[in-house]
Formats: sequence, structure tokens, C-alpha cells
Amino acid sequence: MSVMKWIMLFLGIMMLICLAACGSEQTASNTTPDSDSPQESSTQPTMPIQTTELPAETDQTDPPQENKKAIAVVVFSATGTTKGVADKIATLAGADMIEIIPAQPYSTEDLNYNDSGSRTSKEQNDPDARPEIAGEISLDGYATVYLGYPIWWGQAPRILSTFVESHDFTGITVIPFCTSGSSDIGQSDDTLAEQAGSGNWLQGKRFPGSVTDADLEKWINELGKTAVETTLHLLIGDTEVSVAWEDNESVNELIDLAKTKPLVIDMSMYGGFEQVGSLGTSLPRNDVQTTTQAGDIVLYSGNQIVVFYGSNSWAYTQLGRITDKTAAEMADLLGNGNVTITISYGGQ
Ligand SMILES: Cc1cc2nc3c(=O)[nH]c(=O)nc-3n(C[C@H](O)[C@H](O)[C@H](O)COP(=O)(O)O)c2cc1C
Repeated sequence: MSVMKWIMLFLGIMMLICLAACGSEQTASNTTPDSDSPQESSTQPTMPIQTTELPAETDQTDPPQENKKAIAVVVFSATGTTKGVADKIATLAGADMIEIIPAQPYSTEDLNYNDSGSRTSKEQNDPDARPEIAGEISLDGYATVYLGYPIWWGQAPRILSTFVESHDFTGITVIPFCTSGSSDIGQSDDTLAEQAGSGNWLQGKRFPGSVTDADLEKWINELGKTAVETTLHLLIGDTEVSVAWEDNESVNELIDLAKTKPLVIDMSMYGGFEQVGSLGTSLPRNDVQTTTQAGDIVLYSGNQIVVFYGSNSWAYTQLGRITDKTAAEMADLLGNGNVTITISYGGQ
């Protein structure tokens, strides 16, 4: 090859490299925060976006992260009815099944409620009876425990007291449920909560042995929301607000963060309709085009919390909605200067 051909080839390669570099610069500029920011039309974006923390576009296609919070169904069942309901709950909630087995099994005579001298009659008449449990039950790693039992003489069997008094439920949401001939759950759930002395105990529910999967599923879905509402708290400045938190992986991860320590986030007013603050870390995002209302709490760009006192349209991940404030009250809370919000986890 002549020297001239080599020079031509070299110049050609240089031009190709230059074109490729310009092209990638163009792509990068398409992902700058200004074009990704939530304001619909803006001349001077003032939103405090930390450009270095903005996830690349490919983050949006990351596979959803697994919910790391384990669920257990713990059940005592003498004749199998409550166990049948517990099995259904375990399947529907994706939970592990743990059975409370009495060290001394209950015989048919023991269960005879027509005999005032039967073992169960004696135990239920003695508030201090604590029948022994066979083996050890560990609740390590469980964030939620469904606790099932039959109703005996209007109460939980005494072996449930043995169980709750010998376990630490700190950081665990406990959801009692029972089966019975006809009696309601009564005070049995409150009594167990008192005896446990720890844990976030939700209101219990009685089911007939014939309860359908559809009814159980509805109950489980409603509980998901209640459990989050009672564990995750939001302060705007010094004002505690009630929030209906979403039941999604972003909120689950927010709970995990808040469990370590309260999240104190410095917010900045923006656009006359929202306050925005950096979480300092990214949560799973599942952005959906949304027209927000006053009271909406969303995740923007994976790592910013936005609380609205007005409306905006953009792709956000919904985290929750403030339920006890009107639009005017939200404007009062957020429209008069930058605020600090605190998201904390509290089991009780
Ligand atoms: C000793 C004993 C006492 C009971 N007391 C009541 C009661 O007060 N009210 C009621 O509706 N059912 C009562 N039942 C019925 C059970 O609650 C019911 O059959 C339950 O579904 C049994 O659950 P299991 O099969 O999981 O043990 C009693 C049953 C037994 C054995």
C-alpha cells in the first residue's frame, strides 16, 4: 500500500472515531436531568436534582427486586380446621407454615367441651395454664406472622399463651385469625397481644372453616395496607400526617431504610406545586405517567421524594397519599417555605 493510501486510511479512521464520539455525546445529553425533570414546561429549572445520583436510563428496566421480608403462618389446630385455613393463607401470602404442636397431644376426650372435667375445660378455666409446646419455634427473619388458633370457650387455647409469652415479636407485625363453631374472635387477639408484650398486633379475624380463597385474598390485600399504615410514619416539619402507603416494592424498601433510622429529608419548594428532597439512595422504581393531586407522595427518578400540594403530570412511582389533609391544608404545610420531612418506622 502506498504512503498516500495509508494516510487516507488513517484519516478515514479518525473521522469515524470523531463521529462516534459526537453521537454518544448526543445520546448523553438526551438523558440530562433537565429533560427528565418532572415539570411540564419550565424555563429555569430550580429543582435540586443531584445529577451525579441520577440513575441511567437502563435503571428503569432493572428486574424488580425481591421483597426480602419473610412471612410466616404460625398455627395451632387440634382437629385440622384452623390448619386448613392456615394452609390457604400460606399459599396466598407466600408464607412459610409453622405448626404449634403440643408436647402432649389433645385426645378426643381432652377436647370434650361437654365434660367439665376434660383437659381443655380445666385448662380454659385456669388463666395460668401453659401447656408445653413440642420443640422450638424460631421467628428469626420474619417481619409478618399470621397467628391462627381455634376458639375454645370464647378464648384462644392456653397453648397460644405459652407461645406468645416465650417469643419476642419486636419488629414483627402479628395478624391473629381463628376458626370457631360460631363465636367471634372476641377479646382473644387483644389478650394474646397483651401477653406477648411486643410486636405490632393488628386486629384479628374469625373465619369459618369453609372460607373461600377469594375472601382470604381480599382480607390479605387489605391487611397489607393496614400493616404499612401502622408502621410507617410521616412528619412534615412537626406535623404528623396520616398516609395511605402503597403496597409495593418501593415502599417495602422505604420501610427497610426507615427501620435502620428515621429518614430526615430536607425538601425544597419547586414549581408552586411540590416539595422535593433527595433520599440519598435509590429505591426500586416502577414509573407510571401520573397526574398528581395535593397530598400525593411519589418517588421521582428513583432517588427523590416528592410531596405535592398542587398537581403535576409526569412519570412517577406512587408511594402513598396523605389522607387527613385537604388541598388547602397541604398548601399551608408545604407552600410557605422549604420543610424537612421525617419518615420513621414504629411498630406500636
Ligand atoms: C374445647 C373446645 C371448646 C370450644 N369452644 C367454642 C366456643 O366457645 N365457640 C365456638 O364457636 N366454637 C367452639 N369450639 C369449636 C371450635 O372452635 C371449632 O370447631 C374450631 O374450628 C376447631 O378448630 P381446629 O380444628 O383447628 O381445632 C370449641 C371446640 C373445642 C374442642
